Amino acid sequence: MSTMIDVKRVVNRLLGRGKVVAKTTESREKWASEAQEGEFAFHKTNKWRQTPDFMIQTDRLLRHFGFTPEQYAGKVVVDVGAGSMLRTRFFTDAHLVVVEPLADRFIAEIPGCDLNNAAEVYSLPAEQLVEPLVGRSDLVISINVLDHCYDFPQIVDNIRQYLKPDGLAFLTFDMHDKADHMHPLSLTEKTCKPIFDNAKLRIEKLTTGVGDALDGAQTYGHGPFTLNYWLRRADV
Ligand SMILES: C[S@@+](CC[C@H](N)C(=O)[O-])C[C@H]1O[C@@H](n2cnc3c(N)ncnc32)[C@H](O)[C@@H]1O
Repeated sequence: MSTMIDVKRVVNRLLGRGKVVAKTTESREKWASEAQEGEFAFHKTNKWRQTPDFMIQTDRLLRHFGFTPEQYAGKVVVDVGAGSMLRTRFFTDAHLVVVEPLADRFIAEIPGCDLNNAAEVYSLPAEQLVEPLVGRSDLVISINVLDHCYDFPQIVDNIRQYLKPDGLAFLTFDMHDKADHMHPLSLTEKTCKPIFDNAKLRIEKLTTGVGDALDGAQTYGHGPFTLNYWLRRADV
């Protein structure tokens, strides 16, 4: 039944019918009590992230997006919503920075969690500005996170502030038309564009989906496809 509804929703969208309702903010309280608790429980029981497959998949994913391991050697890479295992270990010899609200809990309670291998760890939500990162980042990268947050416009503004004048922000997240308790936000191409404009971020490139990186799936778990944004500062 739900598959039929999903198919109808996708067909309607492809035909330009049906409204995609997007929600770009949620209350911090609801996010903390529902989404974050669900997220913690997920990571605590997720054994796959600690198998070699996790970095094999990460390698496929980041290469699909055009990244190579050595390209940020000696540079500052900020992993927003890093989760409990560092996908950004992909970038060899980079100065890795983690901004992850569950970082302290992940480190304390998940054996094998590798966040401590980052050069700097900020156990904070991305909505909170991390002053020491302002103007320092060569790459701000966020993978499958932004629909899990509570204030997208604030995050985007913070990300712009973290970038060096020639820095790149790469944001990839699921486009879906329904928020739920684990995904308080539903972000679409239409709602994201004015938010990037307001934050003075220029869209250098936008793609959808992940090619063959996730064995054929085009999402991280929701909606018909991912939205993948390459953004540059428009204020310099
Ligand atoms: C699905 S996991 C993805 C983790 C990692 N990026 C990966 O690809 O394996 C989503 C992560 O986003 C984090 N997250 C949720 N809300 C956030 C927020 N407001 N700011 C930063 N990270 C957040 C969660 O704690 C969780 O670790």
